[in-house]
Amino acid sequence: MAERKKVTIQNLFQKVANKIPITWLTCYDYPTAYLQEQAGIDMILVGDSLGMTMLGYDSTLPVTMDDMIRHSQAVRRGAPNVFLVGDMPYMSYQPSNETAIRNAGRFMAEAGCDAIKLEGGVEMAERIHAIVSAGIPAIGHLGLTPQSVSALGGFRLQGKGAAQAKKIADSAKALEEAGAFMILLELVPDRLCKLITERAKNCIIMSLGSGPHAHGQLLIYHDMFGLYPKFKPKMAKVFGEAGKVILEGLQSYVAEVTEHQFPQPENWFGMPDEEYEELLRMLES
Ligand code: KIV
Repeated sequence: MAERKKVTIQNLFQKVANKIPITWLTCYDYPTAYLQEQAGIDMILVGDSLGMTMLGYDSTLPVTMDDMIRHSQAVRRGAPNVFLVGDMPYMSYQPSNETAIRNAGRFMAEAGCDAIKLEGGVEMAERIHAIVSAGIPAIGHLGLTPQSVSALGGFRLQGKGAAQAKKIADSAKALEEAGAFMILLELVPDRLCKLITERAKNCIIMSLGSGPHAHGQLLIYHDMFGLYPKFKPKMAKVFGEAGKVILEGLQSYVAEVTEHQFPQPENWFGMPDEEYEELLRMLES
């Protein structure tokens, strides 16, 4: 496949202008990044969800900046042309503007990211402003924000009632005014997502489980392919049962080794008779 051109912020705004939805997926490793690049995905998020999907924690909170940088580097090697977003992990931006700028800078300098994403509403507008002022493109994340899942009362729909919906709409405005070029709405009602998308002036709105009216869609890769064993969110569509296929392959491997069916001659390398006889002589002497 011919190598495509690098996706830029301008390309993303062009898609919005042409009413072509933007495609965005999570990814955490080199081989998957390679496939996503080949498939023509516009954007990749190296999400701190890797704490759950790749590292087996129960939440995203234990994920460190070093974890994020290591995985972002691997993804960049596999997908050199996608628009790559580094997700700022818990406590990498909350303490101060300076902490936020330093860690956002690491994603750009050490991993070749094109932008960073951070969670939080109006209270994070100041952080977004600081990061954007340092020359780093920033994405806001509203609605269900997993780093605050305890405060939000679990993984559930946000902004169902008018008062909470207004808070989310106000936060979207504040983040846009602070300089966010994109906002992700996770698990809010479709009508709220539509309203925020229509009100956005110079900001791209992306949906994760928030309906079809945003400028594009994000899905968690592991949910798309049945690769996360602990639960399958209702909002995710399974596009292929890769987890099932891999499990069947593993079961076949166990059975074939156990029954002496693997390996076969095509799976190993022989040694010429004369070399083997010489080896035996050498071992004897
Ligand atoms: O970490 C992540 O993958 C995310 C998504 C849930 C949006 O932040």
